[in-house]
Parts: sequence; C-alpha cells; structure tokens
Amino acid sequence: MRSLICRKISEDITSVEIEEIELPEPEPNEVQIKIMACAVNFPDILMIQGKYQFKPPLPFAPGGEFSGEIVAIGSQVSGFSTGDRVVAGARYGGFSEYINVDENSVRTLPKAISFAKAACYSTTYLTALVALKIRGNLQPNETLLVHGATGGVGLAAVDLGKYMGAKVIATGGTDEKLAIVKARGADHIINYTQQDASLGGFKEKVKELTNGRGADVIFDPVGGTVFDESIRCINWNGRILTIGFTSGVWPKAPVNHILIKQISVIGVRAGEIGRRNPELGRQNGAEIHQLLTEGSIDPHVCASFPIEDAVKAMQMLQNRKVVGKVVITANGYSPQEIT
Ligand SMILES: NC(=O)c1ccc[n+]([C@@H]2O[C@H](COP(=O)([O-])OP(=O)(O)OC[C@H]3O[C@@H](n4cnc5c(N)ncnc54)[C@H](OP(=O)(O)O)[C@@H]3O)[C@@H](O)[C@H]2O)c1
Repeated sequence: MRSLICRKISEDITSVEIEEIELPEPEPNEVQIKIMACAVNFPDILMIQGKYQFKPPLPFAPGGEFSGEIVAIGSQVSGFSTGDRVVAGARYGGFSEYINVDENSVRTLPKAISFAKAACYSTTYLTALVALKIRGNLQPNETLLVHGATGGVGLAAVDLGKYMGAKVIATGGTDEKLAIVKARGADHIINYTQQDASLGGFKEKVKELTNGRGADVIFDPVGGTVFDESIRCINWNGRILTIGFTSGVWPKAPVNHILIKQISVIGVRAGEIGRRNPELGRQNGAEIHQLLTEGSIDPHVCASFPIEDAVKAMQMLQNRKVVGKVVITANGYSPQEIT
C-alpha cells in the first residue's frame, strides 16, 4: 500500500514522501481499514518537525483521524464485520491507504455521513463539547464569543454553541473566511484584524452587541492580545475558556479583573479528561458521535487533497487558508460536499 512516510525529523515538511510499504495482517483485536479520508491536524505537522510532545518512532506516517471501510478483521474482533463504514483514531499512520487499529478505537458510521466529515469531527467537536458543556457550563440564551472561529476547533464551537442555544459572536482574521462562519450559523462576526486597537479593538464591538454587558462565555484558542482584550468584554460571572495559543503568545491573566468581575479563567484539555477518567472520555466520545449521527452537528470540510498531495494540505493549514478542516483522501474517494 501507499503511505506518506516521514523518515527523518525536519522543519521542512516537504521532506516526507509517498512510499510503497507492506501492511501486516491485523492482530486478533484489530480491524484493517481501507482509508477514504484523513483529517489534517497541526500535530501531524509538528510530528514531522519533531516539535510535538509525542514522538513516533521513525519511519512513520502522520495522520490521526480517519474514516473508511473495514476490509479485514482480527480473530477476536466481535463488534465489526468487513464492509462496515467506520471512523477511527490513532496517534499516527492515517496518511495511508490502509491501517490496522484496535477495535475499541472504531465507531460505525451511518450512510448519511460522508467519509470526509466523519474524519474531521472527533478532535474538534470533543474539544468544543468539553469546553462549552463540561468546563464552561454554557446555558441557552447566554452569549458565547468564539475566537479563531474560522479554524477547526473554533468552527466546531460555533456549531455546538448554536446547538446549545447560545447567541454566538465569532471572530476571525479575514472577511472571506468569516463569511463562511456566518453562513454556518454565527449570529455576528468580527474581523479582529480590522478593529482599531486604539478604539478598544473587538471589545467595543462585543459590548455593542451585548448591550454593554459583554460575553458570558469566551472560547479562546488564540491567546495573546485576543485573551487580554477578552478580559475587557466579559460579563459579570463570565467564563474564559483557554483552549490554545495559535498567536504564539501565552497571555497573563490580570487577577484584579478576575476579582472585580467575578470571572473564571478555565483551562481545557479535552483529550486529557479521557485519559484521566476513561469512563467520562467514553461518554464524551459517544455524545459527540450521537450528535454527528443525528445531524445536530455538521463538520465543515473546505478542501480535500489526494494522498500524493498531502504536503499541499499541510501547507494550507500552515498558511491559515483553511476554514474548518482540510482532508487527505485515498483509494479514489472524492468528497461530494467540496465544490
Ligand atoms: N485544549 C484542547 O483540548 C485542544 C484540543 C484541540 C486543539 N487545541 C488547540 O486549539 C488551537 C486551535 O486548533 P485548530 O485545530 O482549530 O487550529 P486551526 O484549524 O489552525 O485554527 C486556528 C485558528 O486560529 C487563528 N489564528 C489566530 N492567530 C493565528 C496565528 N498567528 N497563526 C495561526 N492561526 C492563527 C486562525 O484564524 P484566522 O486566520 O481567521 O485568525 C486559525 O483559523 C491550537 O492551539 C490547538 O493546539 C486545544
């Protein structure tokens, strides 16, 4: 089978190459999946560059979230059959035509959900669920401010926030990308690159949209000055959910503001919750899968690239050109929803 192989750690992600490799038969507890789509995530790039906390043994193929069809099953597998449409996860190996994975990491995929959307939902929506429901206690009719709303976890938070009944204000870096976020349900959009910092940046706009109160819950995967400004447009009793630092800057929380407005700054580690409490992790995964299956959430895939162009997909992510998610496809699969 063909796989996108990283043989040496390199800053230059074009150093990876498609190779023909042998895949063993699945172990007794494993299923073999013919991969149709694999999501591209930043950790895939960081693994090639040797900058991710988890370092796979060389050589390896990146790719941790994928969907496809089961083509072989191990002798002890009980929950799946060949021909099943499934979605699964692994730490790496998904930028390939086939993969063997433990049956416990596999879920059945209804026919109505495309392989492309299925490959993209688990990390993004799990993060949004853990943040908004478990950590943020978002209530219907509260105002949710989502930063980095054009990105993978941000757009998932917009979608899930609307599903939970919140009024959603979404921020992002370009009008073109934000137009898609608006079309997908955000009540208001703000381009944070076009707000005059000397006039208060996006904070004034958020206050205007909330009759001076500020947002009740703020979802922040960006950090830096976006976090600093968020503290100035948050409601009494508000919750700021710290998701990540795509700006590259770790902000410092001003404790005086935290006290005066009685706000909470809340860390979110969606995957770690499941590692520390596997039962809660299973419940969260099942809840997200149920929301996907019943059509209550709808992952947005803006582009797809065949596996031989996987580097282009990773470069698109690096260059902030992605809205929602980009996928790599294999075995001739071509997503219908991307036009
Ligand atoms: N805490 C958790 O459990 C958890 C789970 C998953 C991911 N994360 C973290 O969440 C963050 C976002 O992940 P993601 O998958 O949504 O990434 P993504 O798809 O690349 O989206 C990130 C968004 O951040 C915005 N951004 C602002 N400043 C940026 C900069 N200097 N460089 C790049 N992007 C910038 C971009 O929107 P504009 O271009 O429109 O500004 C971009 O769309 C990452 O830091 C990731 O590690 C955390």
